[in-house]
Amino acid sequence: MYIIGMNSSEIRKKFLQFFAKNGHTIVPSSSLIPDDPSVLLTTAGVQQFKPYYTGEANPMTAIHPNFGKPFGSKNVVSVQKCFRTSDIDEVGDDTHLTFFEMLGNFSFGGYFKEEAIRLAYEFITKEMNLKISYVTIFEGLDSIGVPEDKESQEIWKKLDPSIKIRKEEIEDVFWGPTGNSGPCGPTTEIYCTNANGQDVEIWNLVFNEFFFPGSREELLSGTSGKRLEKLKTPGVDTGAGLERLVMIAHNKKNIFETDLFAPLMHALPTLHGGWSARIASDHARGIVFLIGDGVMPSNKNHGYIVRRLIRRVIPHLKLQSLAIIQEGFAPPGHSTIKDLVEKVIEYYGRLDMYPYLLDKKQEIVRVIGEEQERFFNVYNKGNNILTKLINEAKDNQTFLIAGIDIFRLVTTYGFALEWIKDKAKLTGVDLDLSGFEREFKKHQEISRAGQEKKFGGHGLLLDTGELKAADEEELKIVTRLHTATHLLQAALRKVLGPEVTQEGSDITAERTRFDFTFSRKLTPEEIRKVEDFVNEAIRRDLRVEFQEMPYEEAIRTDALYFFKEKYPARVKVYSVRDPKTGEVFSREFCGGPHVTHTAEIGRFHITKEESSSAGVRRIRGKIV
Ligand code: ALA
Repeated sequence: MYIIGMNSSEIRKKFLQFFAKNGHTIVPSSSLIPDDPSVLLTTAGVQQFKPYYTGEANPMTAIHPNFGKPFGSKNVVSVQKCFRTSDIDEVGDDTHLTFFEMLGNFSFGGYFKEEAIRLAYEFITKEMNLKISYVTIFEGLDSIGVPEDKESQEIWKKLDPSIKIRKEEIEDVFWGPTGNSGPCGPTTEIYCTNANGQDVEIWNLVFNEFFFPGSREELLSGTSGKRLEKLKTPGVDTGAGLERLVMIAHNKKNIFETDLFAPLMHALPTLHGGWSARIASDHARGIVFLIGDGVMPSNKNHGYIVRRLIRRVIPHLKLQSLAIIQEGFAPPGHSTIKDLVEKVIEYYGRLDMYPYLLDKKQEIVRVIGEEQERFFNVYNKGNNILTKLINEAKDNQTFLIAGIDIFRLVTTYGFALEWIKDKAKLTGVDLDLSGFEREFKKHQEISRAGQEKKFGGHGLLLDTGELKAADEEELKIVTRLHTATHLLQAALRKVLGPEVTQEGSDITAERTRFDFTFSRKLTPEEIRKVEDFVNEAIRRDLRVEFQEMPYEEAIRTDALYFFKEKYPARVKVYSVRDPKTGEVFSREFCGGPHVTHTAEIGRFHITKEESSSAGVRRIRGKIV
């Protein structure tokens, strides 16, 4: 019944070839850091194809940034790198991962339910020779106006009259939207049974019939007042986790027994029933692929995810080493984080898909080494405190660690919350996580109040948080610097690449200060190029204009916006545009104020470029 002899690389290839044979264009995986700023990470294959469902991009004519040309077909297939923080607490069980590869076929008006289900059925039962345990369909939900998916049910029955069909609710079988808005629709899922007798979802077929102008939370809550809109052309988005499919194909009990994990699991002792090794293996892959896509450990956004992964793996490995030394735990074992990430790089770098990992090997290992060093500076103290807290919680019979103590370990000692949770689980104590949340909020409020106090005493004429001006004269300068800062961001992305994203900005009459993600110091050549780009835009006296539109609509333009900012329902999108050629130099969400023509700015000059924190650079600039 199982296909023996097909390893995971062959399964990847078989998937791509099967769909290529059926009229799909093979598109390479996009980065784990999506172009779409409304989502932090790529969590599914569909991410890079979102605009094709809404009609915003035409697969026949639009040049896809990752593919470099139009797809030339309404149907595409990919193996996509994905990362899901939402599953981080599940990692260690038999089927969940943070980083995984998703096999997916997609159609933007080429075919719909009938063909999508038939192709999936054929691939699983004929190409892979596997048995489907059951499939699910959407039971319908009146409050959002979507009926039961009888059509899919009929299609399945026609293909296999004996197939088991389960009807499920919106939580499980209605996908999307991701981010602040997007395509979404009912799904049908395929389940197979692993060697443990567990039924595991291995493929999700999404029928994108709708567009929702809000987040998934808003859709589920039903209180946003926003409604599902019918998409002009319904589309298909599917996703099958490679690791799970291999587990089924090889008749394994869990994903960690597959060849994808073999090099890692062999290097680790099976402490705590293999739980610790599973976490270390999963996270080692995530760390490599995130850093491989340009993420640097930091305290914000993507960087904080990598930091937490590293700071969870290290104590797990320490625990394992200790067990080996103290309890004579049987080898193999005693791996360092460097050993693990090197294994990941060697394994994935040698596949056709990820050769860049080998090129970046030294850099990835260096970044992790530096982060390890930073963590080691605080680790012993933090670890002593954590051990003491655990002992106290046991002594005083509360078996509970207080929120404030967790908060201190996270902020002062840089401990990953996930590791504190692991340690609590291993030692049999509980964590007051709501107390921890409360501490966090309190802290945020205090620092916000502190900011206001710092600037509030000056009787500022303008204080947006980003811009500060004391009088009319200063306001004029700040306004010029503000437009220059938009041009600066556009220039940085042009010169250094789209991984540059804003981390913060602060503009006074003296200077602009702009923080952005980037892994290294800029060369003098790069600084000059950035300056030239800004000054060229000024020289051409481009028009600065804005359009006010609903937030959801603005998200669908290519405008840049700042992750950490909370935007209102209607936003302004400022563009700097050449009225003759239509060329857009910069487009950003922004409240203003700005100059109306770039020549008003004067000459822009970068005065300083320095590190602001790990993975974040800071530029100061002036106008003359
Ligand atoms: N986008 C769908 C999922 O991630 C296929 O399950």
